[in-house]
Amino acid sequence: MATLGNRRNGGNARKRLWCAIPVSCAVLIIISFTFIFNLGYKHRAVTPEVMITPMASPSMGSPPPPLVVDRCSGRYIYVHDLPGRFNSDMISSCRTLSKWTDMCPFVSNAGLGPRLNNAEGVFYGAEWYATNQFALELIFHNRMKQYECLTTNSSLASAIFVPFYAGLDIGRYLWGYNTSVRDATSRDLIRWLKSRPEWSTMGGRDHFMVAGRITWDFRRLTDDEDDWGSKLLVIPEGKNMTVLVIESSPWHKNDFGIPYPTYFHPSKDSEVQQWQERMRRIRRPWLFSFAGAPRPNITDSIRNEIIGQCRQSRRCKLLECDKGRSKCHSPSSVMGMFQRSIFCLQPQGDSYTRRSTFDAMVAGCVPVFFHPGSAYAQYVWHLPRNHSEYSVLISEDEVRDGKVRIEEVLERFGKKDVMAMREEVIRMIPRLVYADPRTRLETTNDAFDVTVEGVIQRVKDIKGGRVPDFSEQESWKYALTGRGGEHEWDHFFNRTTQ
Ligand SMILES: *[C@@H]1O[C@H](CO)[C@@H](O)[C@H](O)[C@H]1NC(C)=O
Ligand SMILES: *[C@@H]1O[C@H](CO)[C@@H](O)[C@H](O)[C@H]1NC(C)=O
Ligand SMILES: *[C@@H]1O[C@H](CO)[C@@H](O)[C@H](O)[C@H]1NC(C)=O
Ligand SMILES: *[C@@H]1O[C@H](CO)[C@@H](O)[C@H](O)[C@H]1NC(C)=O
Ligand SMILES: *[C@@H]1O[C@H](CO)[C@@H](O)[C@H](O)[C@H]1NC(C)=O
Ligand SMILES: *[C@@H]1O[C@H](CO)[C@@H](O)[C@H](O)[C@H]1NC(C)=O
Repeated sequence: MATLGNRRNGGNARKRLWCAIPVSCAVLIIISFTFIFNLGYKHRAVTPEVMITPMASPSMGSPPPPLVVDRCSGRYIYVHDLPGRFNSDMISSCRTLSKWTDMCPFVSNAGLGPRLNNAEGVFYGAEWYATNQFALELIFHNRMKQYECLTTNSSLASAIFVPFYAGLDIGRYLWGYNTSVRDATSRDLIRWLKSRPEWSTMGGRDHFMVAGRITWDFRRLTDDEDDWGSKLLVIPEGKNMTVLVIESSPWHKNDFGIPYPTYFHPSKDSEVQQWQERMRRIRRPWLFSFAGAPRPNITDSIRNEIIGQCRQSRRCKLLECDKGRSKCHSPSSVMGMFQRSIFCLQPQGDSYTRRSTFDAMVAGCVPVFFHPGSAYAQYVWHLPRNHSEYSVLISEDEVRDGKVRIEEVLERFGKKDVMAMREEVIRMIPRLVYADPRTRLETTNDAFDVTVEGVIQRVKDIKGGRVPDFSEQESWKYALTGRGGEHEWDHFFNRTTQ
């Protein structure tokens, strides 16, 4: 089962490329950028102890000793100080990160990329950046430097962060390199980690890292040169760690889906609130919209049906991505369309998930999924368990077989239902965005905070024996998240792996 899943998605990952190139090219053209490297600062370790001195009572001779409350108790994170070859060197040689895309602009501003201007009146504030979807490792690492409960004493830590840029590493070698080249940095990293005393404490089961690509890029099962990706997530050491990816495997439990980075990176609570307020009030003339391209080479893809149904409807707005310099690669065109739509269609592409899902939700657009693997079985820490509260699921099979008209399904939702779903989406925005890693939001928890909380809870569960060993971890993630009984969604997953 998993084998076939890997093959399918691995093969498809190759095809993903042709859409990725124009995105970055167009972004480059549209934006004038500055190179600001933000690598200078080191991890700050703080001891946030709060001293509470009880009021001295006049009847007592001497006041009781002050009570020390450690706000970080149970939340400390230790960050491995990795040699530069595992992270910062990749940033300084950013030109080698991709064969097709100059990644250098995208590593500026601590990984947020060049600032977006507001030429089309879509972004309002200054907290918008042309963020590359593969920049998450850098953003997360920089965000970690702002985490209020870092410790330099690993025995105090609830979890150990490994700031390896796994996705940027493998991104250099996915196309045209043999398996030993593709695995080299991961092997090197594992050697380094295992030489550290922190590893032996739990065999790495308290370690976590971000691999900012889809899981299939790290799940090569054989040493067959035609097999896709690296082995990082299938080697025993990789299985022991918790790995955060933008698309996780429905069949494994050592990886967790966390949101793709979007263009929105607030640095103050008020920026988030103002944006949410705008998205509540904005007029949405389109019932539904879609930004994407067909997938002619993927059997079973419903992209053609989606595009066809959108074309036929006066209430659908389409932004096609297959035409060279399409506006679909302009952040402001895409975000402008999502802001003016009630529902946004999110069919699978080359793999289950899409960045577009998060861009749409940040724009207050209710996502319409066609497969539970596109979100429900992925972002279990960030999205509500009851998916009907914030999204619509239309079965892919029914669209493919021409049994359902999307417009009719969406029209059936009453005004009140739509308002409730949109409100839920807008309420979620803070949890779905990564705050500007150079600052810290006052009280809002962003996608990073939610992730760290999830990791710490997971390590607690592992320590408490509530997470089975990896040998038993092969049970299916979606079986746990499905609501209509344990195996509600089996048919979706069984079909795609045939
Ligand atoms: C680290 O924390 C442990 C557990 O609290 C403590 O025993 C040890 O002395 C600390 N080490 C240092 C170097 O502070
Ligand atoms: C893999 O490729 C590298 C460099 O491209 C080469 O040096 C090495 O010999 C190759 N390994 C195998 C096993 O073919
Ligand atoms: C993985 O974790 C288990 C349990 O702590 C440990 O026994 C095993 O040695 C670890 N594996 C590796 C490769 O370190
Ligand atoms: C589809 O496959 C054909 C034949 O293998 C290839 O020429 C074409 O570039 C592929 N198209 C896309 C969009 O990947
Ligand atoms: C899930 O949410 C929907 C929409 O708000 C609601 O009608 C339904 O009762 C909820 N289901 C559960 C099990 O809570
Ligand atoms: C899907 O596959 C699983 C595991 O092989 C099996 O238990 C389940 O019955 C299958 N479901 C359907 C609907 O075929």
